[in-house]
Amino acid sequence: MTGKATTVKLSGGGRKMPYVGLGTYEVKGEEVGVALRAALECGYRHVDTAASYQNEEAIGDVLQEWLTSGKVTREELFITTKLPFIGTRAGDVAKFLQKSLQKLRVSYVDLYLIHSPVGFMGQHDEDHKPVDSEGNRVVDPNTDLESTWRAMEDQVECGRAHTIGISNFNSVQINRIMKGCRIPPANLQVEAQIYHQQKDLKAFCHKLGISFCAYSPLGAPYLTNGTGDRPPPLKHPRVTSIATRLKRTPAQVLLRFLIQLDMIVIPKSSNPDRIRENFQVFDFELSQEDMSSLEALDCGKEGRIVKLEESRRHHEYPFDIPF
Ligand SMILES: NC(=O)c1ccc[n+]([C@@H]2O[C@H](COP(=O)([O-])OP(=O)(O)OC[C@H]3O[C@@H](n4cnc5c(N)ncnc54)[C@H](OP(=O)(O)O)[C@@H]3O)[C@@H](O)[C@H]2O)c1
Repeated sequence: MTGKATTVKLSGGGRKMPYVGLGTYEVKGEEVGVALRAALECGYRHVDTAASYQNEEAIGDVLQEWLTSGKVTREELFITTKLPFIGTRAGDVAKFLQKSLQKLRVSYVDLYLIHSPVGFMGQHDEDHKPVDSEGNRVVDPNTDLESTWRAMEDQVECGRAHTIGISNFNSVQINRIMKGCRIPPANLQVEAQIYHQQKDLKAFCHKLGISFCAYSPLGAPYLTNGTGDRPPPLKHPRVTSIATRLKRTPAQVLLRFLIQLDMIVIPKSSNPDRIRENFQVFDFELSQEDMSSLEALDCGKEGRIVKLEESRRHHEYPFDIPF
């Protein structure tokens, strides 16, 4: 990331993706409406959702409100949604994207991601977390990522998605997609935060022209056990002392750190004050010394918080190799 740029140019057509987007995992109904309105009011133009978050309709209502009132144009917005785990069969991709477009009330998304290399077998199209009689996730033994990707490419060619990408894929899976694709992924969305900085995966992606988006950039504090013996990222003394010295908040330091590592960030908040706070990260810079002291907190693979344990029984479970 250079200087104070607020967007990243994506491969394939040069669309620009804002460095900061609003995360919306586990935010539904009126709560996501309040969050998105607050975000749009203070300047966010990028929203991250997914079919499996089951909030696309509520997001669509707010987008429609803003578009019809002329407060924003469609071209100014950057909307990302994701093919659900239960939608990874090639023949299902168009159907699930059409459902998302209908709920979001737009004719295209800016970025459509395969949510995960792991496929589940749902009983119906809203059965996002299918479980068998023993409570185990019902995984799809026939997931074939190359054929899913071909169906994703079709969505670009027919105009439903301006760009396409992947989420929770490892480097081996990305290589398989790159080999023989018509349209390379424009973006990879994976966990990245101070304890799990994803240096190798990010370098690998950037070499291939794939932009890099950090989910759980604040360390997903709602997952209380995720950091083991380590303090939650927002409370790490190194983070809080940099924040105090720069008269910023710990969240702003964590987000600015990732942006300076050339990562797009999608912090989630339902609180309008924190939503505004998380967007105010373009009027200061961390020094090389502060960057180095935060880079030293990386624990590699051990620092991962979101482990997707329920996906472990699937043949494409992505987190068993170094990156
Ligand atoms: N592709 C995937 O598989 C995947 C997986 C996980 C997440 N994601 C995406 O990434 C987004 C972000 O990740 P995440 O939600 O897991 O975690 P996160 O953004 O790291 O953390 C969100 C949590 O931090 C709190 N928070 C937000 N801003 C704060 C601030 N300024 N100060 C203190 N606390 C603050 C929020 O609480 P309040 O709401 O109360 O502010 C919320 O509990 C998701 O919402 C989703 O869009 C994608």
